[in-house]
Order: sequence, then structure tokens, then C-alpha cells
Amino acid sequence: METDNLNLLNYKLKVIDNFLNQDDFDSLCKLEINQTVKEDFHVYHNEINDKGIIKSVIDKNLLQRIHNNYHSTAMNILKNISKEKAELYEYSDFSIIVTSKNSKFPIHDDTPNKLLSGVIYLYPEKNTGTIFYNNKKGADQTNISWRPNRAVFFSRSERKTWHSYEGDGLNNRVVLNYNLMTNKIKEVYKVENKSYFYGNFRFKLNPYIFRYLKTTI
Ligand SMILES: [Fe+2]
Repeated sequence: METDNLNLLNYKLKVIDNFLNQDDFDSLCKLEINQTVKEDFHVYHNEINDKGIIKSVIDKNLLQRIHNNYHSTAMNILKNISKEKAELYEYSDFSIIVTSKNSKFPIHDDTPNKLLSGVIYLYPEKNTGTIFYNNKKGADQTNISWRPNRAVFFSRSERKTWHSYEGDGLNNRVVLNYNLMTNKIKEVYKVENKSYFYGNFRFKLNPYIFRYLKTTI
């Protein structure tokens, strides 16, 4: 893929092609997903950690398998970006997100409960990837183009890791979001050296959180 522009960004992205093994990729693509999304986005939300499944709307064996197969890889990516954040890990969020072909998710920086944000493009064969920027207005646009089974990871940082995505106008866009999560929001702000009071206020007011099942994408 083209990585020419990656160095424009003032934060790290980790792009991995063929992230999932073929069997896991095929199983995720075969899941019964409602393609006639009435809303802009449809979220199939699942949570798991080493103690077991917390919440699941997909096949439990598949959820357990993907957690087992990729947890150490994701943790290592996070440790490489921020050792301190890795210590705050509590659970993993695996969400399948269907974005309607004409929908657009605006530029945002991700919520503080995400320690590591990841997206794995599933299908169709062609669509639009995820676009990253250096500010909310869209400076230094860096497009991580779509390719099935390509993963993109970053560790969210308040008012820094700006990104957006949209459908291509032709087909619904289906991805697996893979996030390492925490509930220790105060500690997150401490690690980032940012104001908990202001940040938490902003987090709670974010309309997208409430609109999309208390998860931002
Ligand atoms: Fe996001």
C-alpha cells in the first residue's frame, strides 16, 4: 500500500495487511449481517477479556477464537505505542460495523476509554478506507486505502488522532473494529497529561456516543 503520507501525521499508525488468518477472516465475512441498514450505521457489539465473554451478539466460539488469536498482537502494538496505557487494559471490544453506502462519519479523535483503536476492513472488495488528519479541520489528510483484511491501529490521543470515514456511495462498508478498552478514564487523562475535567465533560456530551450505543467508531 502507499505509505508515503504516513509521516505527515504527528501520531503513529500501524497498518498490517492480511491481519486475520484466512479461516477467521472467512468466518467473520460469513456472519449473517443485515445489509439493509435503515440507519447510517449498524453496530454488532461484543466484549470479551481473559475471564470470558462479557457481551456477545455473534457466535460465541468465533468471538473467543478471535480474542485468543489476536490479543497478544494487539497488546504488543499498544505496548509499543504506550506502555502506560497498556497497563490500563480491562477488556476488548470487537464490533462489526456496517456503514451505509451513503453515510459519513465525521472527523473525531475517539473516546478516552479506547486505549488502542483498530479497524480491519472486511468487505466488499472495494470501498473507501479510513482517513487520518492532524487537526479537526482535516489538515494533512492521510488515506489508508481499503483492502480486505487490512488492519489499521492507533492509540487514541485527545484532540490529536483525528480521523473519519464514509461509504463509497456504491456499497455498504463492513469492518471489524477491534479496540482494547478501559474504564479507568481518570488514569487515561493522567497518562495523556490532559485535563480529566474538561475531557470527561466533552466525552459525556459527544452526541455520537449516545447515538451509537455508547460507542464511537
Ligand atoms: Fe474512531
